[in-house]
Amino acid sequence: MSKAITISDLNKMKQAGEKIACLTSYDACFAKLQEKAGVDVLLVGDSLGMVLHGQETTVSVTMSDMIYHTRLVSQNCTRPLVMSDMPFMSYGSPAQALGNASRLIAEAGAKMVKLEGGAMFADTISLLSDHGIAVCAHLGLTPQSVHKIGGYFVQGRDEESAKQLTDDALLLEKAGAECLLLECVPATVAADITAEINIPVIGIGAGLDCDAQVLVAHDMLGMSAYQPKFSRNFLQETDSIESAFRNYVTAVKSQVFPDAAHIF
Ligand code: KIV
Repeated sequence: MSKAITISDLNKMKQAGEKIACLTSYDACFAKLQEKAGVDVLLVGDSLGMVLHGQETTVSVTMSDMIYHTRLVSQNCTRPLVMSDMPFMSYGSPAQALGNASRLIAEAGAKMVKLEGGAMFADTISLLSDHGIAVCAHLGLTPQSVHKIGGYFVQGRDEESAKQLTDDALLLEKAGAECLLLECVPATVAADITAEINIPVIGIGAGLDCDAQVLVAHDMLGMSAYQPKFSRNFLQETDSIESAFRNYVTAVKSQVFPDAAHIF
């Protein structure tokens, strides 16, 4: 049985320049195949609201949904680090966040929780961190705010918003975030942030220079109705789901993915 990946392993991988491969995972079947394929981090994303439930957005996903799916994943893999999304409005105050994050850790088996948003969550991250909960801060495109943003757009394109992203990243690292996820951010901006902060940066649509890459598994298997620009169909190039996962891991580790076609 392989040793479980920890936060300190992810930090060592960042320091050594070894890329980290991450995929979304919502159930036992994918978790087992992804572990066999060598995926380092399994993200139980609230994207399951769109992928599994067929909803237009992630906002209807509940704590019960996240606990159920996180448990399925965490009970069916050993080596990958399991990260679980905090769903919309489950972290409206620091106290509410602490209660809900602790359920994802204690009841569902997550090793890290992820929440969307910048500076206003510094106190929340600090509280969680003080209570021994590892947090990944999700910046850039934050899908839970889709109705406020008005769509799924690339973030940080102009100087002012790029600076805001960098300031938020530095602040949240200082607040105690153990990891950062950047979604749909220009590759140059993500590269600068990755170089500037000490915690691992996971990118999705954020270029090659991030420490880690993540994709929605159903997108990279060509199962989704819409293929985002930043994704690639890895199943098209092989004959099984497990080898598609394996080829993704190899492409991330050898820095072949993402290429120019998949970045902003
Ligand atoms: O919910 C999710 O799957 C995510 C990824 C898109 C990063 O947050």
